[in-house]
Amino acid sequence: MRIRVVVDQPWDVKADVLAVPVVGEPDFGGPLGELDQRTGGELRALATFGELRTKRFSLALAAPGDLPVRRVLAVAAGDAATIDREVVHRVGASLERRLGGRHASTLAVWLTPLADALGGADALASAAELVARGVVEGSYDPKALYRPEIESRPPQLDELILVAPGGDKAAIQAAGERGVIMGEGANTARTLGNRAANEMYPEKLAEEARAIAERNGLWFDVIDEKRATELGMGMFMAVGRGSDNPPRMILMRSGEEGQRDKLDRHLAIVGKGVCFDSGGISIKPSDRMEEMKMDKAGACTVIAAIETVARLAPGTPLLAVAPAVENMPGPHSTRPGDIVTALNGKKVDITNTDAEGRLILGDAMVYAERLGATHIVDVATLTGAVARAFGHLMTGAFGRPQDWYDQVAAAAARAGERFWQLPLIEDYVQDMESWYSDFQNAGSAEGGLIKSALFLREFAEVPWVHLDIAGTGYYRKPLPFGARGATGVSHATLVELALAGAA
Ligand code: BES
Ligand code: MN
Ligand code: ZN
Repeated sequence: MRIRVVVDQPWDVKADVLAVPVVGEPDFGGPLGELDQRTGGELRALATFGELRTKRFSLALAAPGDLPVRRVLAVAAGDAATIDREVVHRVGASLERRLGGRHASTLAVWLTPLADALGGADALASAAELVARGVVEGSYDPKALYRPEIESRPPQLDELILVAPGGDKAAIQAAGERGVIMGEGANTARTLGNRAANEMYPEKLAEEARAIAERNGLWFDVIDEKRATELGMGMFMAVGRGSDNPPRMILMRSGEEGQRDKLDRHLAIVGKGVCFDSGGISIKPSDRMEEMKMDKAGACTVIAAIETVARLAPGTPLLAVAPAVENMPGPHSTRPGDIVTALNGKKVDITNTDAEGRLILGDAMVYAERLGATHIVDVATLTGAVARAFGHLMTGAFGRPQDWYDQVAAAAARAGERFWQLPLIEDYVQDMESWYSDFQNAGSAEGGLIKSALFLREFAEVPWVHLDIAGTGYYRKPLPFGARGATGVSHATLVELALAGAA
């Protein structure tokens, strides 16, 4: 999909579809009135009729009248005061999704109303990037993964026309193109994440990662079960050994080993790659167990994010670590009560084999530090508790020191993603004590979300942030701005965070 910027008024732009964002109540006094007149009063009539609504992400197709387009698509962006970067991104996604099954190869989006609501110095460029990213993500249809022809598939556009009267053409063009690459990266994460466990097992995920590394000139390494055992990754192997599909610790890097970025960091992004989480011997109830093929979403996100960074700013120092396993019951599985030694030498009592994510992440983070990481962000579908607490639209987050958390939160704000910080409550550490090891992996259920992060903290000596995407990593139901399945959440944040250190 090409990006083309036009600085003309929206009524002068030729395209198959012209998207018109409506902020708050439609104000037909200004440019929206001009557009309405040229449609022959169609927009106003639709508003009166109740078809053009003001509720955020409501969409209405209108006849074009004299406008040089085939259809006008009005999209409600909601109240101006609550429009942030996340909303603008989702407006882009929702309008592309609304065109599912329709025939369009060029889409023009009038950016001004969104930019005005966003405010700030480069508002038009910001809106351009976010809308382009949203449109690319909106074109994603997981149904197309296993079937070629999908009737309702969003149109695969040839051209996205960004309409920015009076804007700086070159800056908006560059921003739009950056948005496309960001969107494509999120879609890569989704495609890896959505694939079924019978064909996306650890070795396969490692192959996919290797292909991505080769395409982008990234250093690549993979640690198999033999090397992991020799190295002493006792927690990683405790999970991995239960399946006939052997575990793989996937490593990708841009830049040199230990190389510092412009902010003097060697950033590592670590993603949970449980290709299927049956719970192991502590087996899960059958209710919705099929969703546990999505338990690799964190790994897929870090693999995609390092590719996106390589495309946008090649050579930026960045390390991605993705421990990939299948958590299965069987004669080789870890039993509840087994004691294992982690890569950092700590002894862990595995009281619940379903708390497997923290085990593989712990060894992965210790290994990341061995490879020179000075800062870590891990991404994981770690707990059901985070989904119960925050639902599917808010990622739970932890971190220390606060200054590092704040830097990650700033990257999230740039990316238009919502995180909510939770406390690392020191007093609960004692609930994770074990009779005969340093600690257990699960502890009692109360405060389970906090405890999951307290466990991970034991394996990070450098500044560390943990993102629990168990609620936000995939949607069970389609939303106006997102398909069912993997969302690619936190991909944009990781990319923004890494790019902050680009030369
Ligand atoms: N992969 C699950 C968490 C999960 C649940 C992700 C629902 C997506 C949707 C994780 O490995 C898990 O099983 N967590 C347990 C931890 C408990 C045993 C301490 C949980 O949340 O119940
Ligand atoms: Mn589990
Ligand atoms: Zn899991």
